[in-house]
This record gives sequence, C-alpha cells and structure tokens, in this order.
Amino acid sequence: MKIVVTGATGLLGNATAQHLLAQGHDVVAVDRREGEIAPSHPVIVGDLRDLNFCDSFMSGVEAVIHLAAIPNPTDKRQHEVFSNNVVSSFAVFSAAAHAGVRIVAYASSLSAYGFAYSESWSSPKYVPVDEDHPLIYEESYALSKEVNELSAAMWHSRTGINFVGMRFPWTNLPDKTYELAARARNEDSLPPDDRFPKGIVAKVLWCYLDLRDAAAALEAIVKSDFKGADTFNLAAPDTMAAEPTLELMKKFHPTTEIRGDISGNMAPYSSERFINRFGYKPQYLLDRAKLASL
Ligand SMILES: NC(=O)c1ccc[n+]([C@@H]2O[C@H](COP(=O)([O-])OP(=O)(O)OC[C@H]3O[C@@H](n4cnc5c(N)ncnc54)[C@H](O)[C@@H]3O)[C@@H](O)[C@H]2O)c1
Repeated sequence: MKIVVTGATGLLGNATAQHLLAQGHDVVAVDRREGEIAPSHPVIVGDLRDLNFCDSFMSGVEAVIHLAAIPNPTDKRQHEVFSNNVVSSFAVFSAAAHAGVRIVAYASSLSAYGFAYSESWSSPKYVPVDEDHPLIYEESYALSKEVNELSAAMWHSRTGINFVGMRFPWTNLPDKTYELAARARNEDSLPPDDRFPKGIVAKVLWCYLDLRDAAAALEAIVKSDFKGADTFNLAAPDTMAAEPTLELMKKFHPTTEIRGDISGNMAPYSSERFINRFGYKPQYLLDRAKLASL
C-alpha cells in the first residue's frame, strides 16, 4: 500500500515508517527536518502548514499516517504549538481529501483529556478514562488535539474520507520508559530535568505505550475497512508504576470516581474500544520485576 508518513524524522514517525517498510509498504516519508527512514530512502523536507507542499506528495496515495507536530506545550504564550499543530493538520487533511486518499490515521493524545499538562493539578472525573470522558484542559497542546479531531470530522462530513485519531499516552522505547519510571519513583532526590517536570508521571496516570505497538496499531488502522471519523484511546494494559493503581489513584487523584476495574497494575485508561474495533492489543509490555526493582 502506498502510505504517506508525516513527522518521519521524529520519534513515532520514524519508527512507524520503518515498521511499514519492513512490512513491504511503499512509504512516502515527510518532515520539516532532514532525515532518512532507511539507507537511500530520504525524508521529503517541507513545512506541512503549506498546502501546496502537502499536495505535492499525495498523488496515488491510499493512506496517510499523520504524526508531525510539536509534541508538547513548550511555548509559554501557547501560540506556536497551537498554530503549527492545527494548521499543519488541517493542510494534511485537506490535501488527503483533495487527492482521494481512503483513510487518514493521525496522532491525537491522551493529553487531550487535560490532566497531563494543566498547570494546576487536575484529576479525571472517573477511571478507567474512556472516550466519553470530557476534555478539561487549559493549554494549547490539548486544545490543538481537540481541534484536529474536529477538523478530521469536518473533512469526513465534507468528502467522505475516513479518519482515525489515536489518543496515545507517553510512547517510547522501553529504556526511556524505565528511565521515566525510575525518575518518578525517586524524583525528590534527583536534580530537576526539563524533560520530566515534577509529578508528570502521576499526571499521565502512569500510562505508557511501546513505540512498536503504536506503529503496529497505526498499520492495523490503515489496513482496516474503517468508515467514518472517530477517536480512540490506546495505552498498554498496565502502568509503569510498581504500586497498585488503586493505591496511586487514592493518593494522587482522591476526587476521582472509581467506576471500573483498575485492579493490580491495570492502566486507568480504557483502550477497549480500539481493541474491539481494530483487533490489535499492545504486545510490548514492561517487565514488572524490573519495574519493582527501580
Ligand atoms: N511520543 C509521545 O509520547 C506522544 C504521546 C502522545 C501523542 N504523541 C503525538 O504523536 C505525534 C508524534 O510525536 P513524536 O513524539 O514522534 O514527536 P517528535 O517531535 O519526535 O516528531 C514530530 C516531528 O514532526 C515534525 N514537524 C512538526 N511540525 C512540522 C511541520 N509544520 N511540518 C513538517 N514537519 C513538522 C518535526 O520536525 C518532528 O520530526 C505528535 O502528534 C504527538 O503530539 C506523541
């Protein structure tokens, strides 16, 4: 299948492009930063906010996996993240619709629910958090994710092109997730690190996903016969914490209603809708004995 992958120099995009190549797909890799997804397979360089640039690589494409974005609310004025992420997604969706692409899978984020990056502490209304949970954010990254989900719905209504938005958690390779988990356990005794603001692991509800699972899930979407425009959570079924989830929820999010099963180390996000619809379950789970010894 001919598949465009945007953000192909980045973490998720590069892993996804390499996964798709290994599965025998014809991959068109795009990013504003130079790079390659395999020897002699360079990334096409350009800014996705430019509609003409987006049109230039869509010819004959069956599916788009859109992963380009600024992946957290880095700018204090909230302007750069919003304008970059919203305008680039709108242009990619518009060009895909114009070219008659069958399906677009794109990265939304579990941060859209608002707990991860809100400056004041915020907690879910209930857990497990499913897709019916309200989005209660106060920053531009989460807002950009909701706007992108609305843009996808609009392009579906306008043209019939199909869209699947993926609300991913912290997504990385295991060594980085172990590093984050170790930091969370010892954060009072470690020097500050801008990459890991204090309390971030409790704010993301201890959830994670392996990059390889994200890539395989995105492939399952574009290979499916999905029709419509919808958004799904997808996290590993367990957390990166050693402590039981219920104990952690009571300590860090005491106002949250416990509505469903979060026994043992179960993730307090529900990925049930995705697994039922696309038949793909995360396979690359952390080693629980290793987590306990961090
Ligand atoms: N990694 C995570 O933990 C995580 C979690 C949830 C959601 N996401 C989402 O997944 C997607 C990928 O995230 P990532 O972690 O790989 O980020 P990343 O920063 O590693 O990669 C993003 C890539 O997008 C490119 N890009 C940004 N704006 C662009 C533009 N206007 N034109 C062209 N290229 C542009 C960047 O150059 C970069 O290479 C993003 O939408 C992010 O919000 C990531």
